[in-house]
Order: sequence, then C-alpha cells, then structure tokens
Amino acid sequence: MAGVPLRAGLIGLGMMGRHHARVLTALDGVELVGVADVDGDPHGVARGCPLVRSVEQLIALGLDYCVVAVPTLLHEEIGVALAEAGVHALIEKPLAQDTAAARRLAEAFSARGLIGAVGHIERYNPALRSARARLEAGELGRVYQVTTRRQGPFPARISDVGVVMDLATHDIDLTAWVTQQPFVSVAARTSFRSGRAYEDLVAVTGQLVDGTVTNHLVNWLSPMKERIAILTGELGTFVADTLTADLTFYANGSVRVTRSDLAQFRGVSEGDMIRYAIAKPEPLRTEHEQFRDAVLGRSADLVTLEQGRATVTVAEAVIESASSGRTVELGGVDLAAVRRGPSEQSSARPAERRRDAMQERSAIAV
Ligand SMILES: NC(=O)c1ccc[n+]([C@@H]2O[C@H](COP(=O)([O-])OP(=O)(O)OC[C@H]3O[C@@H](n4cnc5c(N)ncnc54)[C@H](O)[C@@H]3O)[C@@H](O)[C@H]2O)c1
Repeated sequence: MAGVPLRAGLIGLGMMGRHHARVLTALDGVELVGVADVDGDPHGVARGCPLVRSVEQLIALGLDYCVVAVPTLLHEEIGVALAEAGVHALIEKPLAQDTAAARRLAEAFSARGLIGAVGHIERYNPALRSARARLEAGELGRVYQVTTRRQGPFPARISDVGVVMDLATHDIDLTAWVTQQPFVSVAARTSFRSGRAYEDLVAVTGQLVDGTVTNHLVNWLSPMKERIAILTGELGTFVADTLTADLTFYANGSVRVTRSDLAQFRGVSEGDMIRYAIAKPEPLRTEHEQFRDAVLGRSADLVTLEQGRATVTVAEAVIESASSGRTVELGGVDLAAVRRGPSEQSSARPAERRRDAMQERSAIAV
C-alpha cells in the first residue's frame, strides 16, 4: 500500500491485545508505533515497539488511531481520552459496561468527527458474512428464527462483567446484524454457579422487530467450546459454525408448487444439505483492514459506536429481565407491528412469498 503508513497504537496487551498486536504488526499501510499496558508486556508482544504504561504516554507518541483492548470497565475512560486527543479508535466489545457509558463514548467520538468502531469480531467471520450475503439475496426467504449457542469453559481473566456483557453481546450483535432487525423484547434467565458477583450462564428468548424469534444459550460452564448460529427461514436452515467458519445449508425438501400445495402447506421435509466452500480469511485481520480503510477515508464495513451502544442496551435488558423475571421490551419500535403474525405483515400470502423466494433462489443458486 503506497503512501505514508498510518501511525497506530494499542492499549491493553492481555489475551485479546496480543492478537491485535500480531495483526497490527503485519497490516499493510499501518505502522504500530507504540503499545501500552499497566502491567508491562505479559505475553511478549511488543517486539521492539515502544512500550509505555498509560494512554497519555501512548497518545504522546503521536497516533492516527488506537486499538483499545483493556478490560471493559476501562473502555470509557480510555476511549474518551483518545477522543479528546483527536485519535480514532477501534474499541473491543462490549463497547462499555452499560448504556450510559456506551452513549458517552459514542458522543465523544461523533462530536469530534472521529471514527470509532467496536470489535464485534463475529461480523467478520466468513461463515456469518456468507450467511448475511445469502440472506440479503433471499436464499432463505423470510427468516423465522435465529438460535445461537456460545458455550465453553470459564475464562479466569474476565472479572469485571458477567457472561451477558462479555459473551452474549456477540450473539445480540450478530443476530441484529445478520437479520438487519433490531431486538424489541427479551426474556432471560441466568445462573450464578462459580461464586462470583456476576452471572455465568444465560438463556434468552428474544424477538426482533419483524417478528423473528430468537434464542441464545451462553455460558462459561461447559467443558467444551461451541459457537453456533442457526438461522431458519422459509426455504431451510443455515448453520454457521464460527469456530470453524463453516456455513451449511439444509434445504427444505423440494415441494411442487401447485395450487393445492399453496392452500395446504403444513410444514417442511428434509432436502439437500450443502456445506459451502468459502474463503476463510482471519476475522480479526478483516476487522483491522476495515478499520484502517475507514481511517483512510475509504468505504468500510464497521460496527459503529451507536450499534455497539444498541447491543449494550439489549444486554442490559437481558440482565434486567433475568433479575425481575419479566419480559423486557425495548423502546423505539412499532410493537403492534411485531405482534402481528408474519402473514399479516406482508400483502403477499406466506406460500406465495415462499414460492417467489424459491424462484429467486434458483436464479442465484451456487
Ligand atoms: N473480540 C473478542 O472476541 C474478544 C475476546 C476476548 C476479549 N475481548 C475484549 O477485550 C477486552 C480485554 O479482554 P482480555 O481478555 O484481553 O483481558 P485481559 O485481562 O487478558 O487483558 C487486559 C489487559 O489490559 C491491561 N490494562 C488494565 N488496565 C489498564 C490501563 N489502565 N492501561 C493500560 N492497560 C491496562 C491489563 O494489564 C491486561 O494486560 C475486553 O473488553 C474483552 O471483552 C474481546
């Protein structure tokens, strides 16, 4: 990449920060000019790059942008310091520990015309990017349900937030993004099994603005690691495994669309199964390339701070629901429209829309 490289910094050299350091060091058009951590360099990632202890010392090195990978409770303080110094920032997820802090962060960047983005890395996972493009192309028809499972063992290092803010925010963000539909309600239950102040297991049932039903199982209590998103729609099901970056499509059994089929559609049968051959660039690298391009003024696919704020707000509603035992509704959407059945939300009847989507699919079949 021609021209003067962008001067990037990184603060927080822990489990996530070390991966940012690796990617930043190899990123075309970017020079990693400084790294910072209060505890020095626990994973030995500085490799000759100037190492400092604070955000002020990092800013003093002269930065175009900075990656923030400190614990979530410190995102606001460090992000605002960067914004006040005129430095663009890619901030790890979740954007902040609560909506108020996330909003202050978003405002700090937007008020100064700076680029801020959130590291919701699942959006850069090849399996989910492919699913998103295929949904956009109508390959699933209307989406009925999004189910995610994110289960695994306990990460000793995360002690400032619970599993809802730390992990379920991945699922909240990817669900709203892949469907392009915001959440309108959540009902959740949590448990606290590991003796800490924060929940370590959550089960959520949600609803999106178009009526799509969602379900999310997220915990730190499973001795195996699972990252799955299952999208079910009119034409079948996509299963995205974001650990392997595989996307599989389970088609509904082929149905002859006759007048009587339209009148009597009752369910689906099993059809073909396709595991798509997709390119698998590293999601973190794609995330960094997009942020670099945004700083260079090019078009880029970012998770905006406002989107990061919206995800934190849904996560807060999940915690509130688990605490009160009630369904929590999120404001700002037409709830009456959501509560109508899918057939009433479109002038076309479901079977007609299904047939249209099947015809569309055969035209773009891979
Ligand atoms: N995108 C992802 O998939 C993903 C994965 C893991 C973590 N994260 C996020 O990354 C962030 C960091 O998580 P982690 O697992 O790397 O935590 P970690 O505890 O391993 O690392 C945090 C680092 O920040 C340093 N630090 C703390 N206070 C500091 C300060 N004031 N100034 C400079 N450095 C400071 C600590 O010394 C530590 O080295 C969290 O927000 C977390 O949610 C994201």
